[in-house]
Amino acid sequence: MDKIVIDGGRPLKGKVKISGAKNAALPILAATLLTQGKMELQNVPQLADVKTMEALLKGVGLKIHSRANKLKVHSNGYSGTTAPYELVKTMRASILVLGPLLAMKGKARVSLPGGCAIGARPIDLHLKGLEAMGAKIKVEHGYVEAEAPKLKGAKINFDQVSVTGTENLMMAATQAKGTTLLENAAREPEVIDLANMLNACGAKISGAGSSLIKIEGPTPLTGNKWSVMPDRIEAGTFMIAACLPESEVLIQGANEEDLEALTLKLQECGAKIESSEAGIYVKAPKKLKSSDINTAPFPGFATDLQAQFMALMTVAEGSSIIRETIFENRFMHVGELIRMGADIKVEGNSAIVRGMKQLSGAPIMATDLRASACLVIAGLAAKGITEINRVYHIDRGYEKIEKKFRKLGAKIKRTKVKF
Ligand code: UD1
Repeated sequence: MDKIVIDGGRPLKGKVKISGAKNAALPILAATLLTQGKMELQNVPQLADVKTMEALLKGVGLKIHSRANKLKVHSNGYSGTTAPYELVKTMRASILVLGPLLAMKGKARVSLPGGCAIGARPIDLHLKGLEAMGAKIKVEHGYVEAEAPKLKGAKINFDQVSVTGTENLMMAATQAKGTTLLENAAREPEVIDLANMLNACGAKISGAGSSLIKIEGPTPLTGNKWSVMPDRIEAGTFMIAACLPESEVLIQGANEEDLEALTLKLQECGAKIESSEAGIYVKAPKKLKSSDINTAPFPGFATDLQAQFMALMTVAEGSSIIRETIFENRFMHVGELIRMGADIKVEGNSAIVRGMKQLSGAPIMATDLRASACLVIAGLAAKGITEINRVYHIDRGYEKIEKKFRKLGAKIKRTKVKF
């Protein structure tokens, strides 16, 4: 098992190039189940979660060739319809194959993702939507068993905004007969990237990016070329890190409009942020001020950046209230930050962070993907050595994170844990 070791307290300076978005690559890969012929994907990040999705697709019979960040998928004539527990248990987003498999094969058997560290995360909205489109669904022996000889268009109103729920139903609806309307749909940029990719293959989807998405079906989809959008969460993580004392970073390849909520917050904290053709330039403030956040669906402050922002607030001047409204148990990083000397109290879904001059390095443990990015930022901010264990979480969603930080001047390395 690997660990990341950081000798903290150094400013970050230079340029960093943002990779393709994990949360766009996963649904786009699942969408290749809907296409005929050859699909060529570019800017696909090399991540553990992407490998899991590739394994799921190969498991049902797709042929995939990957070279660096390029991926070729041949989806003609696959016959599998099962996503097994062994793969699904490692990645909740595996549920994204349910809609496409059901739409193409008339049936699908997908293991229930189960709970995960950040909360229960049910899939009831995915299932309700597919049922509204005519599917018969039972949950038996830990698997979702869905059947629908032919899906039909339907009007679906999400009780709660769900990103993968919106994506799953949008994909299924491309093969349903008639019009599907998704109301209270997720407006995340990754939903737009998926809709654009599907439209490039022949789908008729309009309204992606708004809370009302219309899909006309069925449309045969043929393979095409698609380049995955840049990862706004990775970009946001570097923007937050760039607010550590005396840092100055140019973040290349990110879309500034995907990062407005974070940009406004960091500006409130005193950072100088400028966007240009060259990228998003972030200069740390002389004195970092505290600010409060409430996580919310896009365009609100992303829950996937909450932990990283909290790490920054531990060394800001004043107090910050961080309210997590999307997931019920997304404060696993708090205990680890406290081990580094942070002053944080959790009350319900709020964390009250009292900023201090500096954290102190300590051995700590990553508990989930974004929590591990938070701990990297904390380690960079701390005085002395921080050792982050269980870093496999970070490899699920950040491409070459330690290399990228090292290029910015951080003293960070990956080593093997000896027992
Ligand atoms: C996606 C992202 C994840 C991000 C999250 C919220 C991917 C692959 N993952 O996850 O990184 O943190 O959006 O921005 O894109 N819910 C239900 N029933 C459902 C579905 C969701 O109650 O059927 C609830 C969830 O428990 C949660 C909320 O809705 O409280 C939002 O979850 P959702 O948007 O579905 O998250 P994911 O799509 O799993």
